[in-house]
Amino acid sequence: METNDAGTGTGTETAAGTDAAATGPDSGEAPELTEAPELAEIPVEAHILPVAELHLHIEGTLEPELIFALAERNGIKLPYADLDELRSRYEFTDLQSFLDLYYANMAVLRTEQDFADMTRAYLSRAALAGVRHAEIMLDPQAHLSRGVSLETCVNGVASVLAGSQEEFGISTLLIAAFLRDLSEDSALEVLEQLLALDAPIAGIGLDSAEVGNPPAKFQRLFARAKDAGLHRIAHAGEEGPPSYIIDALDLLDVERIDHGIRCMEDPDLVERLVDELMPLTVCPLSNVRLRAVDTLAEHPLPAMLAAGLNVSVNSDDPAYFGGYVDDNFAQLKSVIGLSEFDCVRMAANSIRSSFATDERKAELLAELAASGV
Ligand code: HPA
Ligand code: ZN
Repeated sequence: METNDAGTGTGTETAAGTDAAATGPDSGEAPELTEAPELAEIPVEAHILPVAELHLHIEGTLEPELIFALAERNGIKLPYADLDELRSRYEFTDLQSFLDLYYANMAVLRTEQDFADMTRAYLSRAALAGVRHAEIMLDPQAHLSRGVSLETCVNGVASVLAGSQEEFGISTLLIAAFLRDLSEDSALEVLEQLLALDAPIAGIGLDSAEVGNPPAKFQRLFARAKDAGLHRIAHAGEEGPPSYIIDALDLLDVERIDHGIRCMEDPDLVERLVDELMPLTVCPLSNVRLRAVDTLAEHPLPAMLAAGLNVSVNSDDPAYFGGYVDDNFAQLKSVIGLSEFDCVRMAANSIRSSFATDERKAELLAELAASGV
């Protein structure tokens, strides 16, 4: 694919305008980042298990330090004086309040190098969290609307994923996620462009504002993706009702449900999900930070496990929600007393529910069995 950096129109959701005099995306070679993003602290009590991370938005891994470093490199003036001021915005009241900041901070992503640096930062941190396979969502429409081309965002991420197993010991797949608050026609257009570019995507997902944007809106998109041989996943039952989960299964023919926690309000649906071994990619810290649940102590995960649901633990947008996969496990253990047995069970679920090859799954399950837990 050819690189085509528009580097213009920063769109309506940008965090700030650009400084014409400063280094910009069109000024040639991207300089090396002067400030490497700091790694979050690894909780000492955590017993790190080999896992597959199945629910991860790469744009949600932009740590505050990296946001500032990329803004500086691209000559973008952020509307925050410093890291503390940015971090003070990480108090969310619901999904939309998070999405507003998440989309605004994407303004710093302008070049392939930016997308590559973000991806490399995630993988290096994820490796420390025990992630051995990751299926990574990218929101192409959120970049196109800012004048950043498909080639720029896809190539930037994919160039790092291509070497992820050698560089980080993490096998990876890329998933193009579509914004459900935009039209199905927009999603279809972008999917056709991705297919025409032969972009290295393994599947499609559905994310962004859930309530009011039900699965029924995207039936043609998912049928097209299936026809093209792509895997299919969708966020459902995060803020939306259990009927959205049912419709994602029946109307979109999804192979996994992202979140799905509200299935617990519908016993018949729980029975169906158990019978179908349907994977639910649960993100406990995300659910607390977006107020889908009041506290971690009240999270439905233990009840979901007790019901026999195929649940895994994921970080969603770790830079925004207080931690990576290891942090999620550590807090589940310390706050709700999740047993080591349940952690291993969910690690195995994550590997089995991935779209990795059977060979890779067997390798990771053997690694999990040998992890001494
Ligand atoms: N939910 C919906 N859309 C998203 C999320 C989420 O948690 N993160 C990034 N886009
Ligand atoms: Zn998500």
